Amino acid sequence: KKLIIINGPNLNLLGKREPNIYGSLSFTEFMDEIQNKYPNITIEHFQSNIEGELIDKIQDVGFDYDGIILNAAAYTHTSVGIGDAVKAIKTPVVEVHISNTFGREEFRHQSFISANAKGVILGFGLQSYELAIQSFIDVKSI
Ligand code: DQA
Repeated sequence: KKLIIINGPNLNLLGKREPNIYGSLSFTEFMDEIQNKYPNITIEHFQSNIEGELIDKIQDVGFDYDGIILNAAAYTHTSVGIGDAVKAIKTPVVEVHISNTFGREEFRHQSFISANAKGVILGFGLQSYELAIQSFIDVKSI
């Protein structure tokens, strides 16, 4: 299986950014843990602060990878373009958020991704990503 985690803006600061909300582990440390835990699956990671680069990556991997785990971060709530990219591709997308966006500001309750995602996992800290990985391993498609 070949999966990719795509992270949007400011997620390169994980570990340093608002640790009360996002935790104190960096994403590199987290990825090391994940690679050790799931040695039989290829899990790539891509991060960009630039909307168009996220769209390019979704298009690049969207027809031959087995799954995309997408945390579009702030673009979740603003980007019709990323929403359209998710709709355009064949690879299933699981939308992930570290925080429970529904317990936060009203503007975080809207997502341009959810309608075309296979599912959404949020609020479990960095473990949200792990649950998304497990969903590609365990969950049967209907
Ligand atoms: C986030 C939630 C977004 O509202 C926010 O803009 C982020 C991170 C999360 O993972 O909790 O940058 O996607």
